[in-house]
Amino acid sequence: MMFPMPDDFTTREEVADVYARRARRYDRIVEFYRLIGFRDETYRRRAVAALALQRGDTVVDIGCGTGLNFPLIQPQIGPEGRIIGVDLTQAMLDEARERVAAEGWTNVELVCTPAAAYTFPPGVEAVVSTCALTLEPDYDAVVAHAADALKPGRRFALYDLKLPSGWTRHLAPLMVFLTRPLAVSMALATRHPWESMRRHLVNFSMTEYYGGFLYVAVGEAPGVTAEAS
Ligand SMILES: C[S@@+](CC[C@H](N)C(=O)[O-])C[C@H]1O[C@@H](n2cnc3c(N)ncnc32)[C@H](O)[C@@H]1O
Repeated sequence: MMFPMPDDFTTREEVADVYARRARRYDRIVEFYRLIGFRDETYRRRAVAALALQRGDTVVDIGCGTGLNFPLIQPQIGPEGRIIGVDLTQAMLDEARERVAAEGWTNVELVCTPAAAYTFPPGVEAVVSTCALTLEPDYDAVVAHAADALKPGRRFALYDLKLPSGWTRHLAPLMVFLTRPLAVSMALATRHPWESMRRHLVNFSMTEYYGGFLYVAVGEAPGVTAEAS
């Protein structure tokens, strides 16, 4: 093995502890990844674009962190829309709260809870999660709850990391080494939230990037009849 294999962060407590320690520097860590060539902003934008948002929509951002998706969502939903940011780590939500205050947004609600324990309000128009859902051990419950809460035909978009199926998987130790500050470990390789999306949603599609290490997936809540669509 070229790189030392770090400890695995498998429990919510371990993950929350990592993010509590990183929260103040999180945006700068993301900036660092962008500087070394990781086109985070591009995939974040693709996930938000896949939601096909309309003015007045309510969007749930699962594992919202410091709220880096909020500036991409706000112009599309307008002040009459609503963002609900859900996150496990209070320190990350404190950063998000600062962003919300600095921008003067009054339509953002922040909820501190594990994603699997979150009760979605019924009839939401969109659910997004960027680089977070794989960290939730019961990601399947999150997708199932989201599919139930979404209005028929409305979308769940996910941008996240995974283990590639091709030869690039041999580069996984390097990828884990680089993303370890964000609680990424090989233990996450067995978690496949895109399969939950395929199971609980319809019109599922998925595009892979970076040799299959990264993907953007989208699916729709079932229930739209041919006449209604
Ligand atoms: C890599 S950050 C991503 C933050 C944000 N989505 C972004 O794209 O910048 C992962 C976030 O997921 C949160 N998280 C991890 N496990 C979670 C869980 N089980 N439930 C809810 N949030 C979780 C962490 O606290 C952290 O804020």
